[in-house]
Amino acid sequence: MRGATDSSGLTFRQDYFGDDAAWAALVSLLQDTFGIDIDPLRQLGGTDPTSMPFGWFDETGTLAANLSAFAMPITLNGRIINAAGLQSGAVRPPWRGRGLYRDVTAKALDWCDRQGFEAVVLYTDKPDLYTPHGFVSLPMHLHAGDAPSPIPKTKPARRLDPWNPEDLALLREALNARAPVSERLAVCRSSAMFLINTQFDPDIRLSWLPEQQAVIAWKMDDAAFFVLSDVVASAIPTLPVIFGGLGMSPRTVEVLFAPDKLGWQGQPQLLETTTRFMIRADTPVDLAQPAMLSPMADF
Ligand SMILES: CC(C)(COP(=O)(O)OP(=O)(O)OC[C@H]1O[C@@H](n2cnc3c(N)ncnc32)[C@H](O)[C@@H]1OP(=O)(O)O)[C@@H](O)C(=O)NCCC(=O)NCCS
Repeated sequence: MRGATDSSGLTFRQDYFGDDAAWAALVSLLQDTFGIDIDPLRQLGGTDPTSMPFGWFDETGTLAANLSAFAMPITLNGRIINAAGLQSGAVRPPWRGRGLYRDVTAKALDWCDRQGFEAVVLYTDKPDLYTPHGFVSLPMHLHAGDAPSPIPKTKPARRLDPWNPEDLALLREALNARAPVSERLAVCRSSAMFLINTQFDPDIRLSWLPEQQAVIAWKMDDAAFFVLSDVVASAIPTLPVIFGGLGMSPRTVEVLFAPDKLGWQGQPQLLETTTRFMIRADTPVDLAQPAMLSPMADF
C-alpha cells in the first residue's frame, strides 16, 4: 500500500534550469547517482529549451529528488508522435523510501498530460517503477550483416569536433534540419541529447559528408567491423554512399537504428540489455517492425 509522501524539510521547485545554483545541484545529483557529467551541455549549445525539471531541494540547496520532462517528438511506425521524454530521475540515498520519486513522477506526468503530449517515453533499468503509471516496454533490435560495397565519392569526409565552434555550429544546423533517421522509430530533433551523447561515448566519431550534407556518427571496433550509430541529414544517404564518403569498406556492419532508409537490410537482433525503452500512450503502442532508438538519442 502506498504511503504518503514525506517531504519534510524540503522545498518543491520546477522549471529551475535558469538558476545557476539549482542547475549545479542537478549536475551534482546526476554525477553522484549515475557517474555522468551533464554540465558540458551548457557549452554545447545549451540545455533543451523544452526541459521542465521537477525537484525537491533541501535548505542548503542540495537537490534531493528530481525528474525532468522535455519535448521529444518521435517517428513511430511511420507516424510523427508529439511525445515527451522523462530523464534525470534520481533521489539521493538519505531521502529514498519517502515517496519523493512517486511524487515527482506524478507531477511530471500530470504536466505532460496538461501539455497535450500524445505519449511519454523513457529509458530505465527499473521498469517496475513505471508500469503502475501505464508504461510498457518496447523491444529494441539492432540490425547486423555483411557490409555493402562502397560507392566511391570525390569529396572526402572530414572529422567533426563538437568543441570546435565552427564544427559545433555545423552540427547544430544539421541537427535542426534533420529528418528522422528511420520511419520505424527515431527522434525528430533532440539536438541537446545528440550533442551530450558525443561526450559520453569516447569511441564515437563524427564525420561530415560534404556532398550529402550529412553527419555520420560511427565507431569501428576493428578494421573490418563498422558500427553505425546515427545519421543526421535532411535526406539520409544510403549505406554504400556513407562507406564511399568515409572511404571505408568494412566486412560487417551493425546499425543501431532501423535501416529502412539505408538501402540495406541486415538481420534484426534483439538487444539484450537491462535498460528498457518504455512508452505510455492512450492507445496501445507496438513496433510494427524491428527497430531501436539510436544511442545518440539516449536520454
Ligand atoms: C529508484 C529511486 C528513484 C526511487 O526513489 P524513492 O524516492 O526511494 O522512491 P519512492 O519512495 O517514491 O517509491 C516509489 C515507488 O517505487 C518503488 N521503488 C522504490 N525503489 C525501487 C526500485 N529500486 N525498483 C523498483 N521499485 C522501486 C517503491 O516501492 C514505491 O512503490 P509504491 O508507489 O507502490 O509504494 C531511487 O532509489 C534512486 O534514485 N535510485 C538510483 C537512480 C535510479 O535508479 N533512478 C531511476 C532511473 S529510471
